[in-house]
Amino acid sequence: MSISFFTSTNQFVLNTKRTTYIFDASKDRFLRHLYYGKRISEFQAPEDNDYYNFAPYLATLGDRWSTDIFSQECSFFGSGDFRTDALRLRGADGTSVTDFLYDSYRIFNGRYSLEGLPEARVDETTQTLEVTLVDPITKCRLFLYYTVFEKEDIISRYMVIENRGDAFVKIEKCMSLTLDLDRCDYDMVSLYGSHPHECNYQRVPLHHGTQAITSRRGSTSHQYNPFFAICSHKATEEKGDVYGFNFVYSGCFLNEVEVDQQNHTRVLVGLGSECFSYTLDPGDHFCSPEAVMTYSSSGFGCMSRNFHRFVRTHILPPEALKPHPIVLNTWEACLFNIQEETLLQFADEATKLGFDMLVMDDGWFGARNHDHAGLGDWFVNLKKFPKGLKPFVEEIKAKGIRFGIWIEPEMVNPDSDLYRAHPEWCLHVSGREAKLSRNQLVLDMSNPNVIDYLKESFLKTFEDVPLDYFKWDMNRHLTDVGSAYWSADRQDEVRFRYMKGVYSLLQWFREQYPNAVIETCSGGGGRYDLGMMYYGIQIWTSDNTNPYDRTMIQANAMLAYPATTMSCHVSNPKDSLKSLDYRYKVAVGGMLGYELHILKMNDEIKVEMKKQIQQYRDFEHLMRLGEHYSLVSPVYYPYSAYYYASETRDEFLLTVIEKADCKEGKTKLLKIRQAKSNVIYQDQLTGTKYTGESLRHGISFPLLGERDHAEIVYLKKI
Ligand code: DGJ
Repeated sequence: MSISFFTSTNQFVLNTKRTTYIFDASKDRFLRHLYYGKRISEFQAPEDNDYYNFAPYLATLGDRWSTDIFSQECSFFGSGDFRTDALRLRGADGTSVTDFLYDSYRIFNGRYSLEGLPEARVDETTQTLEVTLVDPITKCRLFLYYTVFEKEDIISRYMVIENRGDAFVKIEKCMSLTLDLDRCDYDMVSLYGSHPHECNYQRVPLHHGTQAITSRRGSTSHQYNPFFAICSHKATEEKGDVYGFNFVYSGCFLNEVEVDQQNHTRVLVGLGSECFSYTLDPGDHFCSPEAVMTYSSSGFGCMSRNFHRFVRTHILPPEALKPHPIVLNTWEACLFNIQEETLLQFADEATKLGFDMLVMDDGWFGARNHDHAGLGDWFVNLKKFPKGLKPFVEEIKAKGIRFGIWIEPEMVNPDSDLYRAHPEWCLHVSGREAKLSRNQLVLDMSNPNVIDYLKESFLKTFEDVPLDYFKWDMNRHLTDVGSAYWSADRQDEVRFRYMKGVYSLLQWFREQYPNAVIETCSGGGGRYDLGMMYYGIQIWTSDNTNPYDRTMIQANAMLAYPATTMSCHVSNPKDSLKSLDYRYKVAVGGMLGYELHILKMNDEIKVEMKKQIQQYRDFEHLMRLGEHYSLVSPVYYPYSAYYYASETRDEFLLTVIEKADCKEGKTKLLKIRQAKSNVIYQDQLTGTKYTGESLRHGISFPLLGERDHAEIVYLKKI
């Protein structure tokens, strides 16, 4: 049992393999957070709390019981806790004082399902604690959920608010996860960026007041990834306390961290209040998205591996655990210039070189000859494909290669038949000129008629077309968020309902085309999040295919996400074998693909590509399913070194990548601590043998201080 309730102490204890989480129902009324950290078997809760002047309290309970003082499981607005709140409801009387009292609990196997939102999949060990709270005034019920993923050391949090009263209430702020820690000597680590420079690393000390990471862009965004961590000042890759957090959602979010007057830290993860409110009529309920957290007492490496295991096992669709297709994508080679004849030649070459899949990117539909027109018109461009899509795809597949296609369902160009017929179907505010971005507007995915139109178009266009793969793109952020479908009092729900519309269409694609896999993308890594990972096998990590930039982006993305999710392409090596080798060694860190004009590559390059594809197949399982160990971070050094280990520790793939500015010219000792001492390993690429003991001690690596220098070592037990 990972979850227990002790009547003697009124304590709830949640255990994972290596962590314990404890809270109680103090005075049978408040949910008081007590502990989250290393696994423990005994805990003594304090009798009561310190008193502070100005702390509000109930006369009936006395001044030691102020909600502003003790650590909470869910903080409410306006009822005595002045720190940042997790839940704010406005009642029909106009007030927003929110206060719920503990009522009861239930422990069950499995989980509560979040109705149309992505959610962590359960296994036979998953257990959930449901704690019910009531508000006697509005008659609302609040269900707080804690789902425990024991093996992965993950606890997830989400809530359901149910209106059992006879008047409406409006949810004005909703944060799925609250964690109060009784210290503040921490750093905060997060990933920020821009298009196409995602996943830059930031580590800053906490300060008094509130630090926040947020997206108001309608998607999680290139600018701020929803992952973040709180760690002790001295935490390193292998040592120190680290708390990691993430959100299973792809839209606007808010992560808040507040250090208060007691030098305590409050962490909140959720939808926030700025881009969200939601009216609950009597009888209605609302499910929040799920937030996840993990704790590691041994640094960032362990935190990352907890998340990696969790994402592989509980977030990604099951097909993501099978080998991913090695794709040749047309984008950087052809842009919008899609020509049937050229693609057939691409397919011939790609088949010869051993690719699994040809992916036809943007430019195949409507009047899509550039990015000014065509989005929304999901019918094949008959000038480009005079016989239609089906015979073309069949001809490609007859060559012995699978076929994938690019789509961007959420968008519309003003120059499109769809927009001319239904201008009211894009997000807009009547009378205001909606802003363009990449010449496109955003479809109102909260409108069921739009979703129906998209389903009908795709059904027609893809009827009997044997597609194996969809690349689902999204190339702008949401502005002018107004919906012609929803009433005035529900306009603040549109961003959330937009995401639910997107998720419903993604789910429909999965069911309608069960033999096809999905790769998601938002101009690269603009929706690199657990929500999207629930539907697709991988995400196009970044539009940036420069290998130096990619080294950094990939290393930092690995803090929170497993390599299984990372789509990594080798782009044009410009006839240089050395550059091809370098680009390949950067790309093998994730799920390999190529994005170059294969017909313009010389024979030498093609021969080498063929060898790379064959070689990658030998060890791709290590990236897909193995454990990642970072040895040298490119954030701090001009080179990157890491290895993947198989579960049995019989195989390792060690990679060292020098960046353009690497001037080290020194020999570095890279320790493979996971090697088994009493085993002999052989590098499958050079034949060199090593004892496990010597690998643990370290392999010497000369850094050449050269452009385009990277090495891989593929070790296997013999
Ligand atoms: C942005 C994507 O990230 C690219 O890979 C490509 O698919 C283009 N969109 C196509 O418009």
